[in-house]
Amino acid sequence: MTGYGALLVLCLAAVALYRILRHRSQLPLPPGPPGLPYIGNALQMPADQSWKAFTQWAQVYGDVMHLSVMGRDFVVLSSPEAVSDLLEKRSAIYSDRPVMPMLGEMMGYNQLIPLSPYGAHHRDCRKLLVSGLSPRNEPEYNMVQAAKTLEYLPKILADSKRFRSHIRCLVASTVFQITHGYGVANLDDPMTQLAEQTNDDFSRAATPGAFLVDAFPILQYVPDWFPGAGFKRKAKEWRKSSDKLRNEPYEMVEQQVIEGTASPSFTADLIRSKEGITPEDQYIQKCASASFYVAGADTTVSAMESFFLAMSLYPEVQKKAQEEIDSLVEPGRLPNFSDRSKLPYLDALLKEIHRWNPVAPLALPHRVTENDIYRGYRIPAGATILANSWAILHDPARYPSPFDVIPERYLSKTNEHLNPDPRPFEFGYGRRVCPGQLFAEDSLFIFAAMVLSTFNISKASNPDGKTIEPEVEYTGVIRWATVSMVNFVSTIVSLSIVLILTWIKTYAIRKHISSMGQSGKSLSNLCARDGSIYFVILLIMTIFNLVATTYQAIGDVTVLELAVSPILISRFLLDLRGADTARRNHVDTDEALASTVSEDTPESLCFSSAVVGNLEAPLTSFFADDEDQQEHEELPCDLTDSPSGGLAENSIKHEDTVHLDVDYTCEA
Ligand code: HEM
Repeated sequence: MTGYGALLVLCLAAVALYRILRHRSQLPLPPGPPGLPYIGNALQMPADQSWKAFTQWAQVYGDVMHLSVMGRDFVVLSSPEAVSDLLEKRSAIYSDRPVMPMLGEMMGYNQLIPLSPYGAHHRDCRKLLVSGLSPRNEPEYNMVQAAKTLEYLPKILADSKRFRSHIRCLVASTVFQITHGYGVANLDDPMTQLAEQTNDDFSRAATPGAFLVDAFPILQYVPDWFPGAGFKRKAKEWRKSSDKLRNEPYEMVEQQVIEGTASPSFTADLIRSKEGITPEDQYIQKCASASFYVAGADTTVSAMESFFLAMSLYPEVQKKAQEEIDSLVEPGRLPNFSDRSKLPYLDALLKEIHRWNPVAPLALPHRVTENDIYRGYRIPAGATILANSWAILHDPARYPSPFDVIPERYLSKTNEHLNPDPRPFEFGYGRRVCPGQLFAEDSLFIFAAMVLSTFNISKASNPDGKTIEPEVEYTGVIRWATVSMVNFVSTIVSLSIVLILTWIKTYAIRKHISSMGQSGKSLSNLCARDGSIYFVILLIMTIFNLVATTYQAIGDVTVLELAVSPILISRFLLDLRGADTARRNHVDTDEALASTVSEDTPESLCFSSAVVGNLEAPLTSFFADDEDQQEHEELPCDLTDSPSGGLAENSIKHEDTVHLDVDYTCEA
């Protein structure tokens, strides 16, 4: 190809690229509920169970819906097709996680698999975990799962009211035994306490938008002492426990391996797997090992609790599952893993538990790393992608009577599009799909089988013998910050009204002066003197407080607002009094006579004298003799109603102009 030919091709390629990029930027975003400028849909985000609101919105805007929150793009996928097309078929660019400065960077959870950015660290850690959780190790893990569940049964028998604590203890002891060969006796065990603590901290920080720093990452660099920087101290405190969870159990096993006393475990296998291990390898191993607990404990506990709830609400389903187990398992023996393939009803029941109350209704958020086009819509790079698994699993067209637990729906299948296996939507998508699915399902199976063969589960009753209806309310892994907007919004609206009215009045006064041919102060100067500065500060503080509360950026801002508001208001009132005093002093001067007050221009704020007296009046009037006081009390308070414009007849002469050069610095 000649030089000209190459140049031509290059030019054509450049034009084509330009057209593609232009076309791209012209494409619309997916439809979604209209929001406000910049804050977008922030005020519409439901505090809890956002997946339910997203499901309703999806009926209006479709299965690929765009939301914007404080400048961040969110795309909610609500159908298997959209989820598969983007998160699975295009997983090369849809497998990152959104950056969460608080939870990720500041608390260190971005080093653990679930929140780790898509890249080398994630790949290396995940590889270790996936190999540890492979079906090859399943029989060994099954033995531990069965033995731990067996230990659990007498605990429920002894104290059925605390069945939830026992479940947490069961999962903790199973997971620690497998990951670190460590036997947990009860929930007071220091290792369990540490794990529970990190889980708690994780949940509190995991709320998208829970901390202002997640919306404005620059805030992570503010100094610790800065007002409102309580989140930094919190992050430091929480980071200590996550670092501890990563290091301490691992170091314990490392020591045991050196001493030759280590029990078989995932971590011991990791440590033994490499000769001459580097600190980097060791770090990867620690992260993989801690991820096992962090990702596996709460999720499994939640599924087990759902099982108990479903059994208490659907006794006929429970009875059928028990009959199936009893018909297979001879008396005196408990079911085990070898019975599983012969328990189709129980298998269907567990599928239904996953569908009915999915542990992660919005899975975990993914992040798209490149601009993309889907169905003619633009998906901007960096957008957070939420897969609404709950919507898919509760779509009546796919699962008729979606809110009922009906295991039969999977047994008598006549239509392959109806009642598909729900598990592909319960354990996540694409390259971030849950690596612990097999382990979780095994834990749930042996738990359900043993509990059903030994106990009847029913609703609790109160001392009067009345049945207590259990609440079927789930908060899910992902929650939006809870905030009561009403107070903030009404305060913001009222402050705005005060400001607008004040400025209209100030503007009118200035216009009036100009029309009289006098050169008054500039508008900005007047605004600085009309008291609106205090209300502007109050308004800014309220808005800041609203944002901080929405993002739970710790309460310092509220405290600041509470402390500063009365000061500002009292300052404003003192200024009013000062203005009046100054005006009174000016009355006797020629200057005051030269520039006085308009009769028809209300120029100051006045309070009902019947209620609080005229706050504008100087304090001296309060202490004046009765006669004087009488005089003051008789002053008409409402300036517009007063024939003299509301100013004391004896204090000022009424001319056509307002005296605007009052000294607002208060002498009182
Ligand atoms: C009923 C129990 C469980 C449920 C419902 C569940 C569900 C999920 C879901 C929805 C995700 C997010 C997938 C995505 O981003 O698309 C996930 C991720 C993950 N799960 Fe599970 N999980 C369960 C148990 C477990 C267990 C027992 C383990 C460990 C042994 C585990 C380890 C993980 C890890 C490490 C990730 C992060 C994967 C990644 O980001 O690459 N999970 N899980």
